[in-house]
Amino acid sequence: MLEISNLSHTYGSGPGAHHAIEGLSLSVAEGELLCVVGPSGAGKSTLLRSIAGLIAPTGGEVKVDGQLVTSTPDNLAVVFQDYSRSLFPWMSVADNVALPLRRRGMDKSDRKAAAQEALESVGLSGAGKKYPFQLSGGMQQRVAIARALAYRPKLMLMDEPFGSVDAQTREDLEDLVLQVRGHHKMTIVLITHDIDESVYVGDRVVVLSKAPAHVVGDLAVELPFPRDQISTREHADFVHLRAEVGRLVRGVTPTDQLLAPGGPKPGGNPTDQKARKQRPGGQGSGTRKGGAGQPAKQSPNGNGQASNRQASNGQAANGQKNGAQASNGQKNGAQKNRAQRVGKKKVRNPKRKART
Ligand SMILES: Nc1ncnc2c1ncn2[C@@H]1O[C@H](COP(=O)(O)OP(=O)(O)OP(=O)(O)O)[C@@H](O)[C@H]1O
Ligand SMILES: [Mg+2]
Repeated sequence: MLEISNLSHTYGSGPGAHHAIEGLSLSVAEGELLCVVGPSGAGKSTLLRSIAGLIAPTGGEVKVDGQLVTSTPDNLAVVFQDYSRSLFPWMSVADNVALPLRRRGMDKSDRKAAAQEALESVGLSGAGKKYPFQLSGGMQQRVAIARALAYRPKLMLMDEPFGSVDAQTREDLEDLVLQVRGHHKMTIVLITHDIDESVYVGDRVVVLSKAPAHVVGDLAVELPFPRDQISTREHADFVHLRAEVGRLVRGVTPTDQLLAPGGPKPGGNPTDQKARKQRPGGQGSGTRKGGAGQPAKQSPNGNGQASNRQASNGQAANGQKNGAQASNGQKNGAQKNRAQRVGKKKVRNPKRKART
């Protein structure tokens, strides 16, 4: 359903040019929920904007349903991180959700019904008449998800959609995504900084390198459904996968490569990205749970869990173009770096910690 071939994107030109993405290839099967993780500034949002047709790649191509993306595809919706900038504050919640449906030529009563149904599916059936400022952050992000769902998109792109909410709300929203994916047959590409989240929600996790971004890991997540915030996270496969993804994000050689006969030795080349570089053809890279050099497993519906999903009851709708950008991504990265620095400080100077 989504084919990305040899994608490159360079911002600017000349000596100040920034190569955000270079030679990135990736396929996403219909109905799959793909999580994309990578270091801050790697080019994840650039990738998402390229898929959404919001920016034109400087090299390679993106195809959705076999069609070359040159502008936002009709059957695509985007959920950005910053709900406060993606909802119109002067419009009621219901009107925010229904607004983009005008482009589909739906009459007012149909728009109203579709908005109400979408709000119900995110647990906000009573909030239609409220205004965004009257809702909590998590509720506002639910509205943004409802607006995307109201389109009945075939492909939903989510850029750090839960980056601005508290941990408990984040878990609720992760479960919401799994739930709506079960009810509305759609393909989802979800970008996240959160490694645990990528494994919990995803059928597959793709790891991007530092800029210029390319795929350094492509791991199938074969955890059972329904997923549960407690038991899934305790599952041995979950623990193993999150460690593998963590190593890939940090550029550390995965354990399965270290253990493989003739594989890289510990410390020999800790950022051995060449060994994990994607195979030609864009069907996944050479790293996944189970052994180095194996192709990523990709079941017809992403994870072989199709029986958990109900049949689609709607067709693709108009795309959503939203000027808001996931600007808080950088901030989150900065916060994380700060946390790491603080963490190191604590280790080096335990007395100082004791005083505080
Ligand atoms: N419009 C732009 N003009 C110039 N450089 C840009 C522009 N947008 C992004 N970049 C640069 O491209 C690189 C990738 O940015 P991008 O937003 O895609 O990263 P990201 O992986 O989404 O980061 P984060 O995890 O922090 O959200 C960064 O170095 C960024 O500074
Ligand atoms: Mg980003």
